Amino acid sequence: MGLKKIWLNINGANRMVVCDPKSDSLADVLRRIGLTGTKIGCNAGQCGACTVLLDGEPVRSCIKKMDKVSEFSRVLTIEGIGTPEKLHPLQQAWIALGGVQCGFCSPGFIVSAKALLDRNPSPTREEVRSWFQRHHNLCRCTGYKPLVDAVMTASAIMRGDMSVDALEAVPNENGSIYGTRYPRPTALEKVTGLSEYGGDIALKMPDNTLHLALVMPKTDHARIISVDTAIAESMPGVVKVITARDVQGTNYASQPQTHPRAACNGIFKPILCDKKISTYGDVVAVVAANTRQEAREAAKKVEVLLEELPAYMTALESIRPGSRQIHEETPNLFCMSRLQKGEDTRTVFPDAPHVVSGSFYTSSQPHLPIESDVYEAYLDEEDRVTIQCKSQAIYGVRQQIAAGVGLPEEKLRIIDNTVGGSFGYTMNPTGPAIMAVCEMALRRPLILEMSYDEHMAFSGKRTASYTNASLACDDDGKIVGLEYHTVLDSGAYPMISTKVMDKYCRFVGYPYNVPNADAVLQAVLSNHSFGVQYRGFGSPQAYMTSESLMDMMAEELGMDPFEFRYINIAKPGDLTVNSYPYRDYPMQEMMDTLRPYYQEAKARAARLSTDKKKCGVGLAWGGYAVSSDVDAAEVELELNPDGGVTHYNSWEQMGQGADIGTLTHTVEALLPLGIKPEQVRLVQNDTAIVPNTGPAAGSRSHYMVGNATIDAANKLLAAMRKADGTYRTYDEMIAE
Ligand code: FES
Ligand code: FES
Repeated sequence: MGLKKIWLNINGANRMVVCDPKSDSLADVLRRIGLTGTKIGCNAGQCGACTVLLDGEPVRSCIKKMDKVSEFSRVLTIEGIGTPEKLHPLQQAWIALGGVQCGFCSPGFIVSAKALLDRNPSPTREEVRSWFQRHHNLCRCTGYKPLVDAVMTASAIMRGDMSVDALEAVPNENGSIYGTRYPRPTALEKVTGLSEYGGDIALKMPDNTLHLALVMPKTDHARIISVDTAIAESMPGVVKVITARDVQGTNYASQPQTHPRAACNGIFKPILCDKKISTYGDVVAVVAANTRQEAREAAKKVEVLLEELPAYMTALESIRPGSRQIHEETPNLFCMSRLQKGEDTRTVFPDAPHVVSGSFYTSSQPHLPIESDVYEAYLDEEDRVTIQCKSQAIYGVRQQIAAGVGLPEEKLRIIDNTVGGSFGYTMNPTGPAIMAVCEMALRRPLILEMSYDEHMAFSGKRTASYTNASLACDDDGKIVGLEYHTVLDSGAYPMISTKVMDKYCRFVGYPYNVPNADAVLQAVLSNHSFGVQYRGFGSPQAYMTSESLMDMMAEELGMDPFEFRYINIAKPGDLTVNSYPYRDYPMQEMMDTLRPYYQEAKARAARLSTDKKKCGVGLAWGGYAVSSDVDAAEVELELNPDGGVTHYNSWEQMGQGADIGTLTHTVEALLPLGIKPEQVRLVQNDTAIVPNTGPAAGSRSHYMVGNATIDAANKLLAAMRKADGTYRTYDEMIAE
């Protein structure tokens, strides 16, 4: 079918657009004419990122095909709701009340909320929540409360019940912005739809840009007999099919496996597979073509001849006696660790009056950001292979891919795009490695836009765990021993599960005093998705086991789960299960604070329970270790001619607040200069420009970047300080 010309009234103006009515969605058309505030996440009607109003009705524009859009329809997008100079109260409230984290969902939510307030100027919180549910507006970052807060506040402003001035950020008296509502520096462009994520940049790349499509054979485990690219390379628009033969380096890009007892070196995840597929989502080739459609069509024609091998989809299958080894060079059970603390539990357990035991499982989990994965690559003005992507470790990724792609690190440049959520998976370097390989082979600007399905297949997952565990107690309810055996399912590659193993050891039994413990931990390969970092890295698996045991033992003793935990929390001098000293002891105070809330919640649950509906109160402890044993972070502060400061760092901004964190630390550390927040310019996340601040991972950034900022600020202040204690200006510094 041919193309169609159609008039639409978009954001109040009549616009003529040309579209393919069958294949183009309304979102495609809007984005093509530059209205990229309408984001595409799932592209399947599930996430609401693409919500616009069509004749006043919220619609998910990614699934609204143009043949279903009538001529002269009225379309309202985020760009028509407010501008940076003239924000809508919803946008103001979104900024002020923490509704923006990664911001990828923000335009869709705000448009949807506008439709709600158009109909119902005084919604209840429940009505707001149910509106968002009904219209499929999903947010992966905020937990929804700030979003409902923002709608309630905006509605109050719009009704005239509240002044918009109440949303204004007021710095503290001394100029500090700690504890204030000072907006995130990147929030304004996010609520107005002007923030450009990977997919938005992809639309604005130069004309000679090629599109990439991945070839991922649909198998969990197979030997590759041959990869035939001839048909694909003859297809329209195809420029080249890149395979392992094109890789100029070792073809491995992995986080190194450094555990002293690991029977592997951890660098065997190929960038492009040529010998075997070890898990669904492994990539054997990449097609480069003039359009995305041409690349994707040709990818289907790359012929990969496979010899299927038995696939072990869980670690329990792959360590069964007689299982075949998945990787020739590494046993399936590739690392084992023993933990012992205190007395031999073989004598403690038989004497204990109370013992509970159970088996606990935590699943492999996808990170499910609202944004899929998009990459750009090009040669920069210094001929560096430049990758724009989502990354939580721009320097780490550069270091991990350099040998694999065959370039010195200084010839690689990694730049973070604005990120629509990550939660850990972008610690993995494979995506940037594929882009670097393709760029080196083609030396043209490149785009890789994964569909959401491809992103799910390609990305790593949280490491699954299987644990058998027992807890022993005396008659007073004091814990006397813990035993557990944990198998961690590393998936197809061994990269990070030994680190998960260490975290598991550290956090099982936290924050209790467990005097005696005995454990075996095993890291095991399977053909499931490979394990990568994920929020809380390693600790949720541990808490699943130990907090379940706490509840089971409380029940066995007939004690309230709160009281059982209370009498066992660590006191000064106690050691963790893996014999680390507890560094701080806020536990008792926290439980004292919690107690009245817990009791009130229990009473409420009892009141609400009926014969048919039971209500309960859940209770669990959690903690985490900031950073790792050896860590470093570097930042740079530069005094500007106007008296302001530029802060350079690589605190990757996933939506967690690397922008506001950097700003807040800088203002605070330079309080003697009286620097105002608006005088601080942030330059972040480009390896060609900023120093290595380390990864945005392991809960380290606030602490490490904060301290690096204090250090840098003290050095700057020392250089500027005059004998009388006042500070030199920029001009005085230059003159001297
Ligand atoms: Fe349209 Fe997810 S619903 S992008
Ligand atoms: Fe909602 Fe990130 S702020 S998905």
